[in-house]
This record gives sequence, structure tokens and C-alpha cells, in this order.
Amino acid sequence: MRVLGIETSCDETSAALLSGSDDDARIDSLVILSQDVHRIFGGVVPEIASRAHVTAVVPVVEQAFRQAGLTREAVDAIAVTNGPGLVGALLVGVSFAKALAFALGVPVIGVHHMEGHLFATALESPEAVPPFTALLVSGGHTLLMDVEGWGQYRLLGRTRDDAAGEAFDKVAKLLGLPYPGGPAIEREARDDVGTSLANAYRFSRPMLRRDQRPGDADYYDVSFSGLKTAVLNAVREDGAAASLEPPRRAAIARAFQDALIETLVEKTARAVRQFKRERVVLGGGVAGNRTLVEAMRSRLAPSGARVFAPSPRLATDNAAMIARAGLFHLERGERSGLELNAFASIPIPGLAN
Ligand code: KG4
Ligand code: ZN
Repeated sequence: MRVLGIETSCDETSAALLSGSDDDARIDSLVILSQDVHRIFGGVVPEIASRAHVTAVVPVVEQAFRQAGLTREAVDAIAVTNGPGLVGALLVGVSFAKALAFALGVPVIGVHHMEGHLFATALESPEAVPPFTALLVSGGHTLLMDVEGWGQYRLLGRTRDDAAGEAFDKVAKLLGLPYPGGPAIEREARDDVGTSLANAYRFSRPMLRRDQRPGDADYYDVSFSGLKTAVLNAVREDGAAASLEPPRRAAIARAFQDALIETLVEKTARAVRQFKRERVVLGGGVAGNRTLVEAMRSRLAPSGARVFAPSPRLATDNAAMIARAGLFHLERGERSGLELNAFASIPIPGLAN
């Protein structure tokens, strides 16, 4: 089966062609166009995102076909993100996908954006398949799940406030770093801060206490807004972001990243232990953070659990992961009708609490 994937939920317009079957899928082409225009606003402006998708969707899809050396007739089905995300942005992809599916006489399937992130790693690592513990960390979501099989998800924990990527973006802003904040903070945190600043900052680990037990509401949940406030206070003590000395900024960035990563790593380790999983799969833009991936690997090495993470291109929003999740549902005989709609918020199919 050959699937055309389309993703327009936020500020990336992406199209991909994927071929094969559920246990052996190959990316024939992947085109991702990032909307740089949002950088000047320090965050995504929904109305601008929708308009940019309208302009980009046709050329991006055409480019995906050219890159694969295929024509439209080679497509057996179309998979499109229909939520969650910016509803105006999603509607561009959904309307385009339905129109093309109708014209070609092929089925269309709506895909949950976060289920797409869950499948991304399997595109590169054939062993990143269930059962596994999943940590999905993006700009809008932070989800810790136990994955028994594809389509069988148990939600263990989530953020009570800011998502992990959102925390990176907001803290970057506080530190005077550009949007998106994740890559900027990761770079900054690698800078040499000198011995005098190396231990100058330490933020407490949010919602992480030794006395928490399985069954406690906060055993798996996370919260990052307090950490953001701690960073704000640290910046204020030193004056303002504009007057922050570069080594001090790097030291704060590192202390923030350390606190956030240790929280995610410990909560994931708890899930691995409770469900006796031998694999951990990371997904979402923050999974492109090498420091997180390395910390996860060394923390879980003694337990024998292996950690799989997507490359940065498949960690952030892309249509290959949407085509891959779509392929799974299509092979189970699922189809969406032409009444398929876009939703700002929808539950992950197959998710139980
Ligand atoms: O998955 P994604 O592309 O979009 C959403 O579904 O939200 O994730 C984007 C988020 C942004 O918040 C961005 O700052 C973060 O992922 N991000 C990172 C890194 N690369 C992207 N966060 C930490 N470290 C990175 N290297
Ligand atoms: Zn995403």
C-alpha cells in the first residue's frame, strides 16, 4: 500500500509518501516546510499559520511526488492530521486531503497528531515497536503512556500545566533566546560557564518526590510552570534578560534543562519498572534533544531497557509519521468519510486511563 501523508497542525506544512505494510514501511519522500515568519513574533500566530499553509500545501505535496519519482495515481490512500492542533491550520490539510482523495477515488483517514509522534521512531528503528513505555514530549503535549500494542495505549501521566516544549519555548523567551526555544536552550546549555557558575543555579525538580507511590495522582504527572517561575526569578535577580552575561544565561539554561530532563527521566523510569518494559520510545520535538536522550539511556541502562528516539527531522512535526500511523489504521480497515473534520482537541484513539 502507498500512503500520502499530510500534516498542517501547527507551523510546518509537510507531505510524505510512504510505501509497504504495517511491519515494513519505507519513506519514499518527505518534504517539510517550516514557517519562519513566526520567529519575529516569538511564537506561532494561528491566523498567519493558516494562510501560510494555504499557500504552501500544493507545492509541498507536488514536491513530495517529484522527490519520490511518482505520480498521483500511485497513491492508494491519504492520511491527514485532523487534530489536535490549530483548527484553522488543520482545516487546510483536511480540506486538501479530502478534495484530493475524492478526485483520485481513494480513501482518506484522519490521524491523531500525537499518535503520529508515537509511530515516528519506528520509521527509523524497526525495533521501536510495542510493547514499550512511551514518552511524548512536544510543544503542546507531554504524555507518559504504556503501549501494549499499536492502538492499545494506557495513559499514565501528563502535564498539569505547560507542555515540555512549551516550557523550553517560554524559558527561551525569558532568557532572550530565539523561537523555537528547545534547540536554542540545548545549544546554550552546552556552553562553557566556568567553574564559578557551574553550580550557581539549581532548580527543584517539579513534582518529583521519593515518597510518591504508584497510584498517587502525582506519581506520573509532571508540571513545569513552577520551574518557569523559578527561571524568571533567577533572571530578575540578575537584572533583566537583556543584561544577562552570556555565561550566566548559559548556566541558567543548563540548570533549567537539567531539572526538566531529570523529572522526565525519573517518571519514565518509574513506568518502565512498574510495567516491566524492555523498551522506551520517545517522540515529539523535545525528543530531538540529545541531552534528554543520553540521560534517559544512562538512567535506564542498569534496568536493561533500551531507549529509542527519532532523529531531529522525524522528532518534530512531519507527514511521514502521519502516513505511518494512517497506514496502521488503514490496514485495520478503518476509513474516514468525506465528513472528516478538524478538531483543536480530540482523544487519542485506543487510549484508556
Ligand atoms: O512536536 P513538535 O514539532 O510540535 C508540536 O506538536 O508541538 O514540537 C515542537 C516543540 C517546540 O516547543 C520546540 O521548542 C521543541 O519541540 N524542541 C525541542 C528541541 N527541538 C524542538 N526542545 C528541546 N530540545 C530540542 N532539541
Ligand atoms: Zn507535534
